[in-house]
Amino acid sequence: MQLHNKNILVGICGGIAAYKTCTLVRLLVKEGANVKVIMTQAACEFINKNTLKALTGHDVAIDIFDEATNIDHINITKDIDLFVIAPATANSIAKLACGLADNMLSATALACTKKIMLAPSMNCYMYENAATQENINKLASRGYYIIRPGKGDMACGDKGNGRMAEPEDIFKIILAYLTNNVLTYQENNLYLEQKYNNQLDFKEQLLLPNSKLTNKKILITAGPTREYIDPVRYISNESSGKMGYALAEIASKLGAEVTLISGPVTLKAPANVKVRNVISADEMFDACLREVTSEKYDIIIATAAVSDFKACHIHDQKIKKNPLADIYALELTNNKDIIASIANIDEEYRPYCVGFAAETQNFEENALYKLATKNLDLIVLNDVSRSDIGFNSDDNEVFVYSKEGFLEHLHKMPKNILAAKLLELIVEHYTNTKDDD
Ligand code: PMT
Repeated sequence: MQLHNKNILVGICGGIAAYKTCTLVRLLVKEGANVKVIMTQAACEFINKNTLKALTGHDVAIDIFDEATNIDHINITKDIDLFVIAPATANSIAKLACGLADNMLSATALACTKKIMLAPSMNCYMYENAATQENINKLASRGYYIIRPGKGDMACGDKGNGRMAEPEDIFKIILAYLTNNVLTYQENNLYLEQKYNNQLDFKEQLLLPNSKLTNKKILITAGPTREYIDPVRYISNESSGKMGYALAEIASKLGAEVTLISGPVTLKAPANVKVRNVISADEMFDACLREVTSEKYDIIIATAAVSDFKACHIHDQKIKKNPLADIYALELTNNKDIIASIANIDEEYRPYCVGFAAETQNFEENALYKLATKNLDLIVLNDVSRSDIGFNSDDNEVFVYSKEGFLEHLHKMPKNILAAKLLELIVEHYTNTKDDD
């Protein structure tokens, strides 16, 4: 239910594609969104408002003066997260571009201060007409998102641009927008009309550069490790795996072949990523070393919070409480350092090595020490004493260092967006390093 707590207003104009909007509304409601619908009078010629009322559980607003529904065009957008107009006809687009407010839909759009997405739908000649193009451009420059119409057979028999995007695609872009998700350049190109959306902030968040990661093999470690003391007790930490899984997902979307070595987490495996599940640091060490010595990896990114220590001896049975003892001694020994071992293998196999530094004090000093002693190419420093970033939170804020010094500060942002920016940085530095060789 990724759209739980999201309020979405859907505007439906009078076009044959209006019937597809029922599917869009159904998808949004199924994902947990609270959806309200506004229709134009013309839309009512194509679909029945009762269908939308049944799908959303809300009255449908059509007439600005309808006292029965008591929905007003000023207040209806106050608590929404997004206004999606699909289909957006040439006529309604022209009204919006001129700022007309002659029906419920156009008046609501004029009063709306939230993001508006338009999914144009019309005959191909109407779509390509300079007037329509000018109107769409005008709206895009005012911050509207324009969802690319498809090419193909029109209901009228003509062929060309102007078919409303498929409801599943409109749904995907709404989901990406409202969950701060990241779409790759290729995906985004399919959905958002580039020529209209060039300078928009959505692009900043959602557009990844054309992939330099294609054909690159990347190994990522994620999550905590568990160091058992006895069959039921272990040493571990708060790592959720979110940072590593986000990197794996985005790297794969960018065309990389990704292997994820994961400690015990509750996250779903990202699509198209080979996942190896492990429990202890020793298992993670073995899994990583097996990967990098059997195949050539280009890059390793170690986000896992590997326990530095493990018990010298794992008891076979649950350790019994001793009624006579107040203090128990636990002997610990060092775990092998995974990223340092990989960074020091034969040049022939050695991937470009990125480590993370989880620090609570002397941040830069500790991070630079780890960069040097572990022989890393890059280190990503985060403050794990904060509860709003780092361990088990949806956001992170990091400082990136290379052997040459400080590279970049990535401010607090959702981990998946940070992952995209970090990958961009890693690829750039990796490429420069290779070019220098
Ligand atoms: O999983 P999340 O909840 O999303 O949280 C993300 C995170 C806070 C775990 C992540 O951003 C992070 O900081 N990961 C590194 C955690 C860590 O163990 O840091 P460290 O400073 O102790 O280790 C430095 C580096 O050496 C790390 O890349 C670590 O993976 C690696 N290491 C450490 C010990 C060891 N035995 N082998 C290793 O490879």
